[in-house]
Amino acid sequence: MLKGSTPLDRSPPVPSKPSSLGRFTMRLDHVAYRVADRKKSARFFMDALGYKVQQEFVIDFGEGQTAQCIALEPPEKIQGKMPWVSENYHLAPEIFVSDGSSGSIVGDWVKARGGIGGIHHMAYMVDSVEKTMEEWRSKGLAEFTSEKPLTCPGLTQVFTKPSELTGIIYEFIEREEYGFCKDNVRALMESTRGI
Ligand SMILES: [Fe+2]
Repeated sequence: MLKGSTPLDRSPPVPSKPSSLGRFTMRLDHVAYRVADRKKSARFFMDALGYKVQQEFVIDFGEGQTAQCIALEPPEKIQGKMPWVSENYHLAPEIFVSDGSSGSIVGDWVKARGGIGGIHHMAYMVDSVEKTMEEWRSKGLAEFTSEKPLTCPGLTQVFTKPSELTGIIYEFIEREEYGFCKDNVRALMESTRGI
């Protein structure tokens, strides 16, 4: 423990059975960074932590505004389905890095953070995005950037507004398919315009 820090109350161990929401403990699906140079940042994760490029794509917001994105997957990803979960299982989260043109949603966000950027959001995989939204709303844990979850085939996602406690956005993600969906990424980024 750090000198001068206050011990937190110990919570009971997390049970290894579904909660009242019918889900298991949330799993960290991906960490999303907004940066000044996505290629250099991606190279950093590849050299430093062994990540590999999964896919690259451009989000076009119109009027010359774009965001360039690279999704990276960790080296220890296990191919195929594991016996105890219904999706691909890996210990480390995927990493999503994006940069954006000047005046764009991502570009402005990075500029407002000293031109370096940082962690924009952390995405937790849940069994039901809708039920998790209901739970968080009923407990007053967060507001969301959209009234309802955003959906693509096999993929449901939503963003909270930035936490007053940690400064970052939390995403909930419900996956049937592996990877990202450009339409959802665009809609999620649009939902963060100005925040
Ligand atoms: Fe995300």
